Amino acid sequence: MKEMNRRDFVKNVAIGGAVLGLGSAVLSKPLKALASGQHDIGQCKSVRVKCISELGWFDSKKLVSQMKAAGGGKTNQWIIPWDPKNAAGSCTLIDMETLDGRHHKILLDTGWSREYMDEAFKREGIDKMLKNGEIEALIISHEHLDHYWGLETTLKYNPNIKIIIPSTFYPEGMFYLRGTEYFEANARNRITHRGELVQSKPKEVNKLYNGCAVAAFDLPIVIRVRGEQSLYFNVKDKGMVCVTGCCHQGILTFADFAQEKIVGGDKMYGVYGGLHIAPFGPVKPEREYLITGMAKYNFKKVAVNHCTGLAAVQKMVELGYPVVKGTARYGSKSDLYIGNGDEVLFG
Ligand SMILES: [Fe+2]
Ligand SMILES: [Fe+2]
Repeated sequence: MKEMNRRDFVKNVAIGGAVLGLGSAVLSKPLKALASGQHDIGQCKSVRVKCISELGWFDSKKLVSQMKAAGGGKTNQWIIPWDPKNAAGSCTLIDMETLDGRHHKILLDTGWSREYMDEAFKREGIDKMLKNGEIEALIISHEHLDHYWGLETTLKYNPNIKIIIPSTFYPEGMFYLRGTEYFEANARNRITHRGELVQSKPKEVNKLYNGCAVAAFDLPIVIRVRGEQSLYFNVKDKGMVCVTGCCHQGILTFADFAQEKIVGGDKMYGVYGGLHIAPFGPVKPEREYLITGMAKYNFKKVAVNHCTGLAAVQKMVELGYPVVKGTARYGSKSDLYIGNGDEVLFG
């Protein structure tokens, strides 16, 4: 396979972006605010969250050293020569029940390695759910390799699935939806996305179903990614559940947004996903405020994993937070947090 040099890569991306022209993409219709300034997303009965995979990669040391060798955190992720053998991926199945008993299944992120994700999909029956249209949408939290680059595995089973992305995607990520290969980075999607593409703009509240909304946050993220979107579920009689991919915007920004902007956000119930506090080892002193700051929400279920980091989860346990434990199966490294194949019910 021919290696693509940097100039060719940039040229191809520019052409790709122009060809793409966003013709098939629509901006989501944001929910109008009430006179109070808050948004009423309605309520749902429950949310069942299944961790398909929370393991982004196998070896953190290898990942960090490859990033540093390529120029560090400001380097474009699409030109870093990542080792494909170190790739795993983050992917979550959400099954929400509305007050009238209907179920909506959505996938949050699609992992990194195609082979690893295919194995996880088959293990958890996601392949069949995608094929028969049971999964209604794929929501991509952000462009990071471990959340987005396994796109081909989802499209293989349903190229027509509705995809919701933050409107802050770079051209490389947009082009990836059409099918392309970034040789240097070992990133490949050979299947064109043919379904509806919705972009959610930062600072808006986009209601997907009664009791479910997505919100994007605009910020620069390591290895030249921009913006992340996350989900809110307003569970009747329980409170708000925050569901994230990496939560690069920070759990305090994310939960505060619900408190300020969403009816019912003053009563928090749970959190699921990566909180990006200590992804590569110990908790750095400058990140500790994220852990201690969570106390004010009085979460009843703290189901965190992925880039939250084991050290951060340990600290949450020490502080008496109701951390949901897992089974440490299929590659997840500790049973202290909810891991691959584990499930948590909010409701
Ligand atoms: Fe991640
Ligand atoms: Fe990330």
